[in-house]
Amino acid sequence: MNADTSAPVGAITPTEYREVFGLLPTGVVAITGLTDEGKPMGFVVGTFQSLSLDPPLVTFCVDKSSSTWPTLRSLGRFTANILSTQQLDVCRALARKGEDKFQGIEYAESPIGTPRILNSTAWIDCHVASEVVAGDHYMIVGSVTAMESGAGDALMFRGGKFGEYSLWPTDTHPESRKPMNMLTRIVDAWSRAWGEGDTGAFESIVGKGYVRHSKTGEEGLPEVIRQIQESHAAFSDFKVHVLQAVEDSEHIAIHWKSVGTHTGNYMGVPPTQRTVTVNGASFLRHKDGLIIEESVVWDPRELLSSMNIWHLGDQVRRNA
Ligand SMILES: Cc1cc2nc3c(=O)[nH]c(=O)nc-3n(C[C@H](O)[C@H](O)[C@H](O)COP(=O)(O)O)c2cc1C
Repeated sequence: MNADTSAPVGAITPTEYREVFGLLPTGVVAITGLTDEGKPMGFVVGTFQSLSLDPPLVTFCVDKSSSTWPTLRSLGRFTANILSTQQLDVCRALARKGEDKFQGIEYAESPIGTPRILNSTAWIDCHVASEVVAGDHYMIVGSVTAMESGAGDALMFRGGKFGEYSLWPTDTHPESRKPMNMLTRIVDAWSRAWGEGDTGAFESIVGKGYVRHSKTGEEGLPEVIRQIQESHAAFSDFKVHVLQAVEDSEHIAIHWKSVGTHTGNYMGVPPTQRTVTVNGASFLRHKDGLIIEESVVWDPRELLSSMNIWHLGDQVRRNA
């Protein structure tokens, strides 16, 4: 059968064609057959695809210049071996031209007498169902007689390079697909530091020259670490809950609420044993994956009133 290949001449250059298809990842499959003399033969394709479920059909395309395909065609059967990331050597051996490409490649015979390369990710045994001549390739349709999964993960090919598939995190929010999800990283480190006293978590995500702006002025990292430690020393069960966290390019805003039992000196106030609550917001700016600036806003009057201390202007007085 001949496919209609009448494309406008010269519309697409081979370079353009290759460049664009270099963007599309493919699997790597070895098409193998065994001659009547018992000689294994094969070649590699990136065009192997599923085609039909009922009946089960597959397809791949082979260059008209292939030296192996004419033999496999005449045999009328083949196995499609889905190569794994452990089989780069097999891929390289079968993707070259020449005799005895199978040297050193171990295989087992399939029920239809074709070579199944050992340690492949899967094997699909097929009979040649039909063939279409399409441009400089033949498009082969195979009818599946048996299939079995093997070992490892499928090898991938894109833009002339080999690679492997890597899974996205289960959270399907587009933000989580960023290679470096700063919102999650910063909120996690910040919560671990303030909520659990794990100051190291915060230190690891803070850049050189980090500065924190608060009502009392500008502070560097050592002062912030001291404040975290002071909070955990003064309030037993000290916890910080992130109520909301939002991101806008390099800015992250965290709306938080901290709760703890006042069991140690804080802001000059001896322990009241009260459960105290403070709401606040921290605005963080990051660059190159590190926090470089932070502004924090919270109201000490909320803290003091939850200690049952009333703050009037600049004067603090115990409410007896
Ligand atoms: C990753 C990869 C994908 C390939 N895909 C195809 C393909 O889809 N069709 C094809 O004809 N050749 C493809 N090739 C090239 C053949 O494997 C190569 O031309 C081989 O030497 C053909 O061997 P033969 O002449 O013994 O048939 C691919 C090669 C590699 C490395």
